[in-house]
Amino acid sequence: MAIEVKNLTKTYKSHKKEPGFSGSLKSLFHREVIEKNALTSIDFSIGNGEFVGLIGENGAGKTTLIKILSGIIFPTSGTAEVLGYKPWERKNALKKQFSVVMGQKNQLWWDLPAYDSFLLLKEIYEVEEKQFKKIVSELSEILDMKDKLYTQVRKLSLGERMKAELIAALLHSPKVLYLDEPTIGLDVLAQESIRKFLKTYNSQAKTTIILTSHYMDDIETLCKRVIILDKGILQFDGSLEGVIKKYANEKVISATLGNKVELEKFTNFGTILNSNELQVEIKVERKNSTKIASELLNNFPIVDITIKDISIEEIIKNIFRESK
Ligand SMILES: Nc1ncnc2c1ncn2[C@@H]1O[C@H](COP(=O)(O)OP(=O)(O)O)[C@@H](O)[C@H]1O
Ligand SMILES: [Mg+2]
Repeated sequence: MAIEVKNLTKTYKSHKKEPGFSGSLKSLFHREVIEKNALTSIDFSIGNGEFVGLIGENGAGKTTLIKILSGIIFPTSGTAEVLGYKPWERKNALKKQFSVVMGQKNQLWWDLPAYDSFLLLKEIYEVEEKQFKKIVSELSEILDMKDKLYTQVRKLSLGERMKAELIAALLHSPKVLYLDEPTIGLDVLAQESIRKFLKTYNSQAKTTIILTSHYMDDIETLCKRVIILDKGILQFDGSLEGVIKKYANEKVISATLGNKVELEKFTNFGTILNSNELQVEIKVERKNSTKIASELLNNFPIVDITIKDISIEEIIKNIFRESK
């Protein structure tokens, strides 16, 4: 196993401060402690080379989990091992084998060209010259960054900066990689090229990757397995198809009509999601979907019909809506 997490709990403690000056004074003497459970008794393990999507709404605990797994913060209780090490012990042997990229945080030196940062990281991680040159050349080639490596990082576009961050994170060929919202705020093209890159990289280098993203496209393209966190609790751990089976009790029938039919006639079958002159989309109970489709075919002038699963995006929204 690359990563093993057992009964992991993280409680943040902060002090309540009453507003205003007297509040500040009072809080000097009497400080009320507020506790926030960011993660509650989390268990999972991840095998070598797996690409796992970590999903959950804002505040679900995703970043907290990644911070614990990269040794930035301690857990309150429970334990975690990455490649056999407890990350918060910050052993050098582990540091040389993992990397973390956070979409909202820069790790590269802002005023330097990316290449200069790479050289510094090469020393820190003790990457051999030959290996270093090979990795920089290969990765910048695939990411189309060859002619951007000598530009000050601050002058790069958001997407180029993220690509440079990725190269930096991969210089020492980590066995484990955490990506926390790597595509956040990027334009669709940049998102797509990063996605494509990660897919190739994972399949070639066999790196174990945990990815959090708000974009379901990222998760659907890259992750066979997903872990869903909701308010610090692990709600689901399994395949994406498993999410559909467990949470999607409905399917969507979409029918093209040969001539116009009163919409009302379809309302007995399910909920109408979309419609226009000769097209109707009905959300129906999953277990009845084929029966309904054949009834529709028998009773209406249908020229084309398909039965689809609800999109992952919609399902995940439903999971969180239910738990509110
Ligand atoms: N340093 C901190 N001190 C107190 N509470 C925190 C701290 N960091 C995060 N939290 C809280 O812990 C919860 C989980 O946060 P986070 O792990 O950042 O979630 P996510 O990455 O899924 O959006 C949130 O309620 C957040 O407000
Ligand atoms: Mg986060």
